[in-house]
Amino acid sequence: MPVTSTFTPFSAARAAQQAAFYAAQGSRAFGAHAVPWRLSTGWAMAEVVARAAQSLLGGGATSVRVVDLGAGTGRLGFHAAVLLASRRLPAHVVLTETAQSTVDAWRVHPQLAPLLEDGLLAARRVDVLDSHSLESVLEPKPDEALLLVGTYLFDTLPHELIERRVDGSVWRGGEDASGTLSFEPAPDELFPPGVVLPSGPQPARCFVPTGALAAVAAIEQARAAPCWLLVADKGPLTWVDAWETDALRWVSHEGAWSVAVNFPLLFDALRPRPFVTAPENVADFSVHALGLGGASPADAARLAAALADAPHPLTAHRQLLEAIAPPLDVDRLLSLQPTGDALMNAAELLRAEGPGLSSDARVGLARWVLTAVESSFVVPSDDVCFHAGAVLQRLGLLEPAAWAYQQSVERYGAHASAHFNLALCLLDLGRPEAARGELQTALALDPRHRRAAELLQSL
Ligand SMILES: C[S@@+](CC[C@H](N)C(=O)[O-])C[C@H]1O[C@@H](n2cnc3c(N)ncnc32)[C@H](O)[C@@H]1O
Repeated sequence: MPVTSTFTPFSAARAAQQAAFYAAQGSRAFGAHAVPWRLSTGWAMAEVVARAAQSLLGGGATSVRVVDLGAGTGRLGFHAAVLLASRRLPAHVVLTETAQSTVDAWRVHPQLAPLLEDGLLAARRVDVLDSHSLESVLEPKPDEALLLVGTYLFDTLPHELIERRVDGSVWRGGEDASGTLSFEPAPDELFPPGVVLPSGPQPARCFVPTGALAAVAAIEQARAAPCWLLVADKGPLTWVDAWETDALRWVSHEGAWSVAVNFPLLFDALRPRPFVTAPENVADFSVHALGLGGASPADAARLAAALADAPHPLTAHRQLLEAIAPPLDVDRLLSLQPTGDALMNAAELLRAEGPGLSSDARVGLARWVLTAVESSFVVPSDDVCFHAGAVLQRLGLLEPAAWAYQQSVERYGAHASAHFNLALCLLDLGRPEAARGELQTALALDPRHRRAAELLQSL
């Protein structure tokens, strides 16, 4: 077996350096479709966090600190903080990230900045792989429970491709000098102390989330007192008994890649710590809680009940997709949580079928749309307000539509389409002077906007 000086373990491959990707991209990482973040930061996940936090208060603590690790957009922490405050629970939410650019973006975010200034939220730069950096947010306080949250975090941390051979020896995969898959004996320090790979079919290969194991070890090193780690991620990836060399090459060279965290392997290795898992978990999205630092079985029982009661984020998302399958079933849609995500998904159907609804149904729908706007969290290039404006305009509800377009400009920045559509609403509302101003702004933003130019001339 060649063990060359140019051997690059899977975890060190350029494409596996995801933290660097987030540091370079900052909040842009969550703008387009590069990273999945909706499911893991939506209303259902916030509800899971809020209920988990509440269940820890049931154990005698007088307050609970919720620390979101690798918080990304900050949306989950924001929604959880709002929920906890609306239920008058003594809770404090701390957003953390390793990417300084992301922490900087939170500080100027229109919804996060006021909460950060008022002290309702806190933001810290934290690397979950570094126990010193974790200490700043894990420090125990009397009678305070601690809930750590990591959504889509563990599959971002380094993984190793591990092969266990028939003789029981453990090897790690990587690329040799010629770029082909090769294996070298896995160094002992790859697995934190106390972690033993579970037995399984042999020989076997598997991605092992060594970064996740290291993060758990770092958390325990930084905090001696009990705490819970609530994890939502993909998984599990099972043992594979064959591996294509080309696949690893693709993984290493093309940049875009995805590896599911093998949670059963992870948590098996970490037993006998208490471990709670949500019902309805599937491979695409699973929710678990791991008790660290001597967390009690009584807390485990309360958390299990909380996870059983809470909506499952993937189930909630599927219900939404069913509800927005044509033809439009307004009652069904209105029975769903009015959120920005739901509105964005439903917008096309609502624009197409909304105008044919009765006036009562349109009023109900308008209320639902406006609540969705009010409760939505601003994420770059996710202009919920513009979609709301377009739906309300089609429903013939011009005042609310105009308000939504104004919100679009205020929250997401000026763009010609919002000003042009606002001008159309203002014209229909009998306010040609105001419309003229909006058309001029649309043209200033996009001098090639033909319809704006034509309309302005006709006024
Ligand atoms: C896939 S995103 C998930 C973000 C968010 N939790 C969500 O559910 O949308 C992974 C996040 O983990 C952060 N991250 C990567 N390595 C980290 C580390 N060592 N410590 C803390 N955060 C890290 C990245 O900056 C990124 O924001």
